[in-house]
Amino acid sequence: MSSSNSETNNMVSLNLIVAIDSKNGIGKDNDIPWHIPNDLKYFKKITTTTSKPFKKNIVIMGRKTWDSIPDKYKPLPDRHNFILTRNEELLNKNKTETETKTKTETETITEYYKSLSKAIKTAFRLKRDNIYIDKIFIIGGQTLYEKIMEIPHIIRDKDTPASNSEEEKYEKSKQQIIKDLYPLKTINEAPENELYKMRKYISDITIYLTEIYKNFKCDTFLPKIDYNLYKLIGASDFYTQQSQSQSSFHYRFKTFRWYNNIFNKDVPQSPTKSISDNIRNVIVNKEEQQYLDIVKKVIETGIRKEDRTGTGTLSLFGVQMKFNLRNKILPLLTTKRVFWKGIVEELLWFLRGDTNNINLQKRGVHIWDGNSSREFLDKLGFTDRKVGDCGPIYGFQFRHCGAKYKTAYDDYTNEGIDQLSNVIDLIKNNPTSRRIIINLWNPQVLDEIVLPSCHCFYQFYVNTNTKELSCSMYQRSGDLGLGVPFNIASASLMTNILANICDLSPGELTHTIGDAHVYLNHVEPLKEQLKRTPLTFPMLKMPEQQLTLQDLNETKLSIKDFKLVGYKSYPTIKMKMAV
Ligand SMILES: NC(=O)c1ccc[n+]([C@@H]2O[C@H](COP(=O)([O-])OP(=O)(O)OC[C@H]3O[C@@H](n4cnc5c(N)ncnc54)[C@H](OP(=O)(O)O)[C@@H]3O)[C@@H](O)[C@H]2O)c1
Repeated sequence: MSSSNSETNNMVSLNLIVAIDSKNGIGKDNDIPWHIPNDLKYFKKITTTTSKPFKKNIVIMGRKTWDSIPDKYKPLPDRHNFILTRNEELLNKNKTETETKTKTETETITEYYKSLSKAIKTAFRLKRDNIYIDKIFIIGGQTLYEKIMEIPHIIRDKDTPASNSEEEKYEKSKQQIIKDLYPLKTINEAPENELYKMRKYISDITIYLTEIYKNFKCDTFLPKIDYNLYKLIGASDFYTQQSQSQSSFHYRFKTFRWYNNIFNKDVPQSPTKSISDNIRNVIVNKEEQQYLDIVKKVIETGIRKEDRTGTGTLSLFGVQMKFNLRNKILPLLTTKRVFWKGIVEELLWFLRGDTNNINLQKRGVHIWDGNSSREFLDKLGFTDRKVGDCGPIYGFQFRHCGAKYKTAYDDYTNEGIDQLSNVIDLIKNNPTSRRIIINLWNPQVLDEIVLPSCHCFYQFYVNTNTKELSCSMYQRSGDLGLGVPFNIASASLMTNILANICDLSPGELTHTIGDAHVYLNHVEPLKEQLKRTPLTFPMLKMPEQQLTLQDLNETKLSIKDFKLVGYKSYPTIKMKMAV
């Protein structure tokens, strides 16, 4: 699950292990408010596994975390237990340093420390001088996690940069400096803020995170992980915890790592560089990386084209991406926040056959406002059309293709060809057909609509062996910054909905784009996005009961019926829509 870390003789890796709920909660009333046997097993495995059988790991924890462990499990077996406390009585229980050092060879030790820096420094020193010590883990609670996770921020902090002379000195003799700064005699007197100095000796920090997708109303928390610093280097599939007293919930294991490159500033940080020459670039989500690679290629090699909006684009012709939809995974991009509600409500609006933007606005979605305003309609010559009436766009082509369009307010029941109904019928009754197609490109209506269909050709394919439904979607024009992330998720959602109606499982989405372009005013925001390493895609939670075409005709389905589990993303990146 994880790549090797960069620990050397002079620098030490720190590990942090923690389970969090959907609000980053870690505990309640000095206890852990969930019971996940698989997570306890994982904790034990991660914190006891060592590089050599005779070695032991150190676990460092706060006194309250220590108290929260049931007596029968204390001290945590096969690990050296370091406990932080300011309680003099407990601190007096400690052995002398020499005793500690010799004892680690034969048995595990339990010791109390009056500061985190002391505990860590002792752990570092033991590790340096003692072949019986392997990894160092911070196992909670909140204050300890906060302090450790702060370390990379200190490095970036402009107020406390490492001076050049310091760096040079360090380069000359790393080993000597460690000994100068942390001589055995004085190490226990080091003040707490010395922790920040330790950054030089920390090669990397790994966070073993269990993400639990349920809110347990905790009173202690983990700080938010800064994904720009801590890169995702491993992730498990989703697991489900059944519970008798509570409703079942999902969780998954992730591993993040921050590398201290303070003395190695030349190491490239771009996630799109090759993986082999830079261990920082472990790409867990290769599917999202396809998208980022296309964006990068268009920015770097696309030709400059003028466009109908007057903004100007960089463009390449003919690109393709594939997304696995199995196990309920929904490819919603994570390198920026994507507006899931907009995707769901717009697709339901299309599938109902609706072309009136006022109805979409009523559900809090405003993505069609620019293309159906008074000003925009007048510009296109639709002066007698009401605001919000988009003409025979997507929805009309889905459900009434070929019918005569009057206004968005007319009833078109039984008029035109219902492509959605036909496709459902073919998937169910003639699954080997090579004609399971929805074609939204209708040349007859081009002068009646506010925007000719961009995603215009959907073909479906049933794998009759695995009972999976796949979709291949052709998009004639793809606005990579704003539109394409939406289109990937929308086509995936539609495949999930059709699979559900037809009693199949979703298989794969193949997404082909003709003119793949980046608007010139999106270049800078997209370059920012390219620096981000993708996180994992979320899981889609559909209604329990099987859906029918009738459900799609009515207005009762909404965002509430299509929830995402485990959607974590980098923050939103603002990009202006070209109209
Ligand atoms: N979800 C998870 O993975 C996870 C992991 C661990 C813990 N937890 C939960 O987290 C909660 C406990 O966390 P917490 O943040 O309240 O407490 P904590 O960090 O476990 O313990 C706090 C205590 O540790 C000592 N301490 C902390 N920092 C110190 C420092 N710098 N120097 C000296 N002593 C220091 C003090 O002990 P004295 O008061 O004795 O001086 C302090 O009161 C519990 O609910 C526990 O179940 C959850």
